[in-house]
Amino acid sequence: MQSFEQRAKELLQSLEGLPTVPDVMLKVNREIGSPSATARSLAAIIRNDPSLVAAVLRAANSPIYRGRYAETTSIQNAVARLGFKEVGRIVTSVSLIRTFEGLGSGIDHKAFWYHSVTTGIATGIFRRYSTRKQEMETIEAESAFVAGLLHDIGILLMDQYFPEELALVKSTASKLHIPLAQAERAALDTDHGRIGAMLLRRWSIPEEVVSAVAWHHDPDLAPPEHRRIAQIVHLADFICVNQAIGDTGEGLYEGFSEGAWHDLGLSVSDVESMLEEVRTEADRSEVIATV
Ligand SMILES: [Fe+2]
Ligand SMILES: [Fe+2]
Repeated sequence: MQSFEQRAKELLQSLEGLPTVPDVMLKVNREIGSPSATARSLAAIIRNDPSLVAAVLRAANSPIYRGRYAETTSIQNAVARLGFKEVGRIVTSVSLIRTFEGLGSGIDHKAFWYHSVTTGIATGIFRRYSTRKQEMETIEAESAFVAGLLHDIGILLMDQYFPEELALVKSTASKLHIPLAQAERAALDTDHGRIGAMLLRRWSIPEEVVSAVAWHHDPDLAPPEHRRIAQIVHLADFICVNQAIGDTGEGLYEGFSEGAWHDLGLSVSDVESMLEEVRTEADRSEVIATV
């Protein structure tokens, strides 16, 4: 009999109208990476997209970003106020959130993206606290952020295209008090990480992002060349679940990989300050996730 993974692969390959990587997101990030980028040049790209204009203005005028500044209606001022890095995160998040808007009506999207954006931002915190500096430099901050942002999209895909299977594994997980990914592996021989990765593989995004999404629940099994980024996403996800930041409907969690903690050279003495930073970033990501 055909495996569920094979069935999912064939269905996802045959579907028309599946989300595609947003063009404006690529344009903005390309511009941010260019040495000639200015608030004006970024504003010029964002200006063509009304919903991004609204998102960037709302973020810049939200209490957490606004600070002592007066309210602004200028997209260029908003970009200058937020800074390129933050604009990149907002544009990436909002474009991807919008891309998946129509998928998974059984999922609370607001809670889903609050969890996902915070996980994306938390990857930066783990990168920074890791003592394996040389290894961390080989991982693009943007790749880790996007992997964190998209790590659970397999749940949206399953809710949309395999609602019966998802309902079944969810009820098994809650009956047996086991994590969702474990119930998925037992019943379907795959998990939502690998289902999400199938879609991302169709996008021309770096393989390290695809791998990190695929292995976020089993980071130590990721291919060696992408293991560190998978471990970062795994720990970032764990800390958000542990702190009850958002909810993707996964319920219980299996704890975290000690191998990941060890391989990243993290220190127990840093846990308190890392948690503090995650909580601060969660406030920002709540703004981003709801714009
Ligand atoms: Fe997950
Ligand atoms: Fe998650």
